[in-house]
Amino acid sequence: METKRLTKKDVAQAAEVIASGGLLGIPTETVYGLGADGLNPEAVRAIFAAKGRPQDNPLILHVPSAQWLERYCEDIPPAAYELTGRFWPGPLTVILKRKPLVPDAVTAGLDTVGMRCPDCRVTRLIIEAADTPIAAPSGNASGRPSPTSAAAMLEDMDGKIDAILDDGPCAVGVESTIIDLTVRPPRLLRPGGVTLEELEEILGEVAVDEAVRRLMAPGERPRAPGMKYRHYAPKAPVTVVKGEPEQTAAYIRAHRLRWHGVICFEEYREAFSKGLRGGVVVSLGPVADKEEHARRLFDALRAMDGTSVERIWAQCPDNGGIGLAVVNRLSKAAGFHIVEV
Ligand code: TXA
Ligand code: MG
Repeated sequence: METKRLTKKDVAQAAEVIASGGLLGIPTETVYGLGADGLNPEAVRAIFAAKGRPQDNPLILHVPSAQWLERYCEDIPPAAYELTGRFWPGPLTVILKRKPLVPDAVTAGLDTVGMRCPDCRVTRLIIEAADTPIAAPSGNASGRPSPTSAAAMLEDMDGKIDAILDDGPCAVGVESTIIDLTVRPPRLLRPGGVTLEELEEILGEVAVDEAVRRLMAPGERPRAPGMKYRHYAPKAPVTVVKGEPEQTAAYIRAHRLRWHGVICFEEYREAFSKGLRGGVVVSLGPVADKEEHARRLFDALRAMDGTSVERIWAQCPDNGGIGLAVVNRLSKAAGFHIVEV
């Protein structure tokens, strides 16, 4: 397998991989996806096999525009078009009632389906050329951090898929926001690049699913089945330290041993790195730059796996805007092991 820059011929070849039931690494603005023909149950099952993904965790369908919604969904509320009109193409997945032609393999037997139009021209062109929706979860092996570059996806998927289209690093860096429009009030199932505040501007009241902020107890069922799994986790255990940056830095300095890893804001990187032997320090970018935290988080977690660190400490960004998504992913990586200072 190889990765390379994209031409028209590549789009045609990629569409051919999809149309013939193959597995294709697709770029999107959020994370790279592991795509297959969303109307071909056998191809969809191959996605689960390549990822080692539990069968009860449904996939989302990627489409080139909101005009395709009617092909696969019914009882579409006006709010769906208000949201897609404002945020598509972009990092927003809407959960709608599905039509019977959507295979059970995609929805894990649910009567709803997640729909998303990625802000990535080449991927939309491939979907149009294949004339079928692409079912795609994030392109990581199940449980690992999502890939924000073709190289990261290759780490997990080399030898398991037919090709990856390399369109450079992802601009958003965390997976799409998921909003369930089949319930009232609409429910945020997963925070992402479209923020809760932005959704509230259009929808008014938005419920936030419990699974966003806390660990699910055994047997509990969040509405997005994927939210119950331990996820994004590096091999070493992670502790998230919440509070003002000065305080969280002081807490980590006091508790961390030399060979522990640290995920910190740029302002503290040098101080943490000083006199270091064996430890690893990775920066999320400046305290105030939330978009940068989102872009860097998964790479920071992956970077730890290339090392022998036995434990990881992370300074927790604040919850506003896309910070809600960053804190959610970081908390999940830590199994919600969070210290407040
Ligand atoms: O940004 C993204 O959404 C990326 C890129 C590739 O588009 N995709 C992605 O897919 O993150 P995945 O499969 O890693 O996460 C999809 C999440 C899972 O937690 C799944 O349980 C939930 O969406 N989901 C899918 N269909 C659903 C449905 N019908 N109802 C509730 N949750 C659903
Ligand atoms: Mg995923």
